[in-house]
Amino acid sequence: MSNTRDSFHSRIGFVLAAAGSAIGLGNIWGFPTQAANNGGGAFLFVYLIVTLLLALPALYAEVYIGNQAQKNPVSALEDACSDTAPKLGKFAGLIGLCGAVMMLSFYTIVAGWMLAHALSPLAELIGYTDAATWLATSSTTRNLMFTPLFILLGAAIIHQGVNAGIEKWSARLMPILLMMLVLLISYILQQPGAAQGLKVYLIPDFTQVTNPKLIISAMGQAFFSLSIGVGGMMVYGSYMKKDRDIGKLAVSITALDTFIAFMAGLLIIPALYVAQAAGQQVFQDGKLIGEAQLIFNILPELFNSMGTVGLLVAMSFFLLLSIAALTSTISSTEVPVSYLVEAKKLSREKATWLVSAVVLTASMTIIAFFDSLFGLVIRLLTTMLQPLSCLFYFIVVGWLWRRGNKLRDSALQQGRKWLPLWGNYIRYVCPLLLTVVFVNVAILN
Ligand code: PFF
Repeated sequence: MSNTRDSFHSRIGFVLAAAGSAIGLGNIWGFPTQAANNGGGAFLFVYLIVTLLLALPALYAEVYIGNQAQKNPVSALEDACSDTAPKLGKFAGLIGLCGAVMMLSFYTIVAGWMLAHALSPLAELIGYTDAATWLATSSTTRNLMFTPLFILLGAAIIHQGVNAGIEKWSARLMPILLMMLVLLISYILQQPGAAQGLKVYLIPDFTQVTNPKLIISAMGQAFFSLSIGVGGMMVYGSYMKKDRDIGKLAVSITALDTFIAFMAGLLIIPALYVAQAAGQQVFQDGKLIGEAQLIFNILPELFNSMGTVGLLVAMSFFLLLSIAALTSTISSTEVPVSYLVEAKKLSREKATWLVSAVVLTASMTIIAFFDSLFGLVIRLLTTMLQPLSCLFYFIVVGWLWRRGNKLRDSALQQGRKWLPLWGNYIRYVCPLLLTVVFVNVAILN
């Protein structure tokens, strides 16, 4: 995707890029971790409801704004509010841009773990056992090597603007990831202890579903997983020809993303109980031990139990995840890069390196103060910044978008085929629902 507009020539081009953005570490690492920590089935149940009621309409609103403006997220929001509150629009756009950088600052750390875990089985296969152990063990030195490596990898791709290549790759690789998930799920479900995990995951404890902490975590996870509230989807919407059926596109992306998260849960939650049945201590007081590292402890155990084949499975699984992380990183990076190129007239190359340098500084800071910063940045982003931005998108689409009310009316009408009250739903219900959840976030924090 270069800085010329209209880069997705087909509907499928947009769906693939948007799905590439949505499907990432949030699905395979974030979702199962949150589900395991928040009662399994109850979390899944609330997650599905929040996705349908709030995240899907927010995705629609975000893509719609970008698509109408055909500009970077900051200018798009400024444009959308030009008759009413342009400064507020610009401010919201800049906040989203900061969110994108925040996302990158911890995402690249986790993606670095993925890379290291992809290389570890390779080292083992060629006989470097010590290196293999080092690669598979979390340490600050490992972070200091692999986070910059991942950032460099991303920058190298983004600055060339070869997203078309990335799209083609993800189109081929994502089905492989899904196939691997299916195979691993069928393997894990035959192991002792898995049935218990399956029960925990699929049968919700309904006494839990009204727990505000659970609802907030589910909302944050849903927003993160759909890449909304930081402008990532807005920028992709702006690269698509105007006036497509965005309702339909939003539904496809949401369905794909939610399906992959569901499948990841179906693998990881039973795997946790298999590990527990084998004598490993996985939970303490109902919470996961070392949650940030969850899949990096549990999955390698699982792969080990498969013998030499397991090494190949491990390598390809973590490699696929690294690529999934890369396609998500690209959409987030595109937010500040598109702004710097279009509004600040920087060359694409300069913009990419500048953003990468900022991200590198931010991620190094998180690594230096990992215990206090890592979880905090994730919570700030997913439970505060992203919902606030989404609230603003609803208000823009439902209220601030004037220009003869034409834009607003067409945005409010488009979804009516599948929800007759769509317009009122976006105007009144979504902002209200989100405000209620958000007030709870503020109180609980
Ligand atoms: N949706 C991605 C994931 O689930 O891994 C994360 C993400 C990508 C968030 C891009 C925000 C964004 F702009």
